Amino acid sequence: MKINNFSDYQKAYKTSVETPEKFWEDVANEFYWRKKWDKTLEWNFNDFSLSWFVGAKLNITENIFERNFIKNQENPQDFAQKTAIIWEANDPNEPNITLSYAQLFEKVCQFANALTQNGIKKGDRIAIYMPMLPETVIAMLACARVGAIHSVVFAGFSASSLADRINDAQVTMVLTSDGNFRGAKAIEVKSVVDEAVLTCPSIKKIIVLKRTNTPVVMQEGRDIWWSNAISNANISKEHQATEMDAEDPLFILYTSGSTGKPKGVVHTTAGYMVYTAYTFENVFQCAQNDIFWCTADVGWVTGHSYIVYAPLLCGATMLMFEGVPTYPDVDRFWQIIDKHKVTHLYTAPTAIRALMAFGTEPPKRHNLSSLKVLGSVGEPINEEAWQWYNVNIGGSKCPIVDTWWQTETGGILISPLAGITPTKPTFATLPLPGIQPILVDSEGKELLGNDVEGNLCIKFPFPSMLRTTYGDHERCKQTYFSTYKGLYFTGDGAKRDADGYYRILGRVDDVINVSGHRFGTAEIENAINEDVLVLESAVVGYPHDIKGQGIYAYVILDNNYDFSAKNLTSDAIKHKIINTVTKIIGAIAKPDKIQIVSGLPKTRSGKIMRRILRKIAEKDTTNLGDISTLLDPNVVAEIVEGAKNI
Ligand code: WT7
Repeated sequence: MKINNFSDYQKAYKTSVETPEKFWEDVANEFYWRKKWDKTLEWNFNDFSLSWFVGAKLNITENIFERNFIKNQENPQDFAQKTAIIWEANDPNEPNITLSYAQLFEKVCQFANALTQNGIKKGDRIAIYMPMLPETVIAMLACARVGAIHSVVFAGFSASSLADRINDAQVTMVLTSDGNFRGAKAIEVKSVVDEAVLTCPSIKKIIVLKRTNTPVVMQEGRDIWWSNAISNANISKEHQATEMDAEDPLFILYTSGSTGKPKGVVHTTAGYMVYTAYTFENVFQCAQNDIFWCTADVGWVTGHSYIVYAPLLCGATMLMFEGVPTYPDVDRFWQIIDKHKVTHLYTAPTAIRALMAFGTEPPKRHNLSSLKVLGSVGEPINEEAWQWYNVNIGGSKCPIVDTWWQTETGGILISPLAGITPTKPTFATLPLPGIQPILVDSEGKELLGNDVEGNLCIKFPFPSMLRTTYGDHERCKQTYFSTYKGLYFTGDGAKRDADGYYRILGRVDDVINVSGHRFGTAEIENAINEDVLVLESAVVGYPHDIKGQGIYAYVILDNNYDFSAKNLTSDAIKHKIINTVTKIIGAIAKPDKIQIVSGLPKTRSGKIMRRILRKIAEKDTTNLGDISTLLDPNVVAEIVEGAKNI
């Protein structure tokens, strides 16, 4: 189902809208099914439920390994020897590791057997709290092989965030490492898990991979070294995959929304497989010997779909990098591209802007001529970053695919197809086949025609759409299907220009996007409010040159706390609040700016007027709108004044 030119795309798109079931059946027929589906699609967006390929049986790892070995029958040996993973260490002097498809398969089977030996059964939940290592991919695929549901938690999240995720899904096993090399320092990992599981009674086993040789405490009977788990005498390198139903959950991935704690987005087996592979093939247009590098962390959905599942389903060679773009030097990305002859680079605007700040010399020091396609994901890309990426990295010869999607969508929804769709800076361009976006006004009325701007919704299901939020289907319906009747609401605003091209404008709800990481303002406020010094807080996003959005927190201190007795300066207070947020969520959610205020602009019914706070944070105080309905309008002038010193 490869799209080779623009007219193929137009034909595919038309078929996908006119006969969606037939369209996806044709795509699905390229996969290996133990049993094919009885019915292609059952759906309801009013009382949300969704099933694709109803009644089909399969295992996603059988589609990565066995299917690809068979498909390349004329030369199965060649495919088995093909490199699946190139792993580049944090330290450029440490040798890289490559794993062929045959080697990866063996390791996945071996670890799948280790999971079973440690009591894991189909449907069990396993948390993966690991750095960027080949074993992290092996762990995910081994879970899928035995039918366990993985819940990968980004290794930068705090013990308390990890514990929340473990408890929400009643996870029984954690896969982790002793530590993590990132940049100049080694970070402790196992000790974070130890702290987390103190409040997680469901945990029975923890398997620990040795990476940094950081001393760790191993609890007898509960904690096992990875090497011991796989060196057990009975462990075979063969494994018969567990048969899964099309709609059996493949993984849970937590993401933030405008209210409450992060929710566990559930993706199921068949639809996720079919859609991610289809989009990878067509958006990136990888050729046989290309090297695909997605710089995301596997802890986010981008890593799940476009480091692990889709490239491997498509039999591609992917590169995985343990470190950070600025270590040991700011040319690390460019050095890696040169070293491994990377053809496809898929990264985030925040990384581009951060590297752009060091000028054009660092990329010029390396040969980047292997590059064919550049990708962008995670947040809107501004024109300046787009141009810099195009000229200085792509040598003005590589199409840029600005891919818009979400944790909930599993795969890319709106994006150019590399070399096929004419691009336009800052535009994600056109919907992929199978995707029916619509823009609506605040009343939910569809905005027809072109040159319109509104709230971005999707009106028809596609295979990799979320099925539920773990343990709370009501919340899923409420969050995504209640704002506009019969539509999936993305939370984003978008513009459709005169050519019908989409440009994503950013979130229109109380979600902020900091360096491509998603946080609910309420989630950060709750963390700040945990600090004993704090009575109340309000958090908003503001434009940030590198991060896209920064976190601005307005904080009311608790007068019952005797600050002078403890000699706390305002810097010390801010420092303490930052530590509290780091402890509760993780360092990635630290406020960039904190303003101490005596009150917040609230309506008579007690609702915080974030619109006003957003304007002040943006330093745009000329027109704050109507403030006469506020409980205490005077507080606004005080905040405007105070903001001048922040
Ligand atoms: C939100 C989803 C998609 C995987 C990484 C983030 C924003 C994502 C783009 C883009 C403009 C984008 C949206 C979306 N976003 N890609 N190409 N252009 N905005 O996944 O954490 O679920 O966040 O990221 O606001 O709703 P996520």
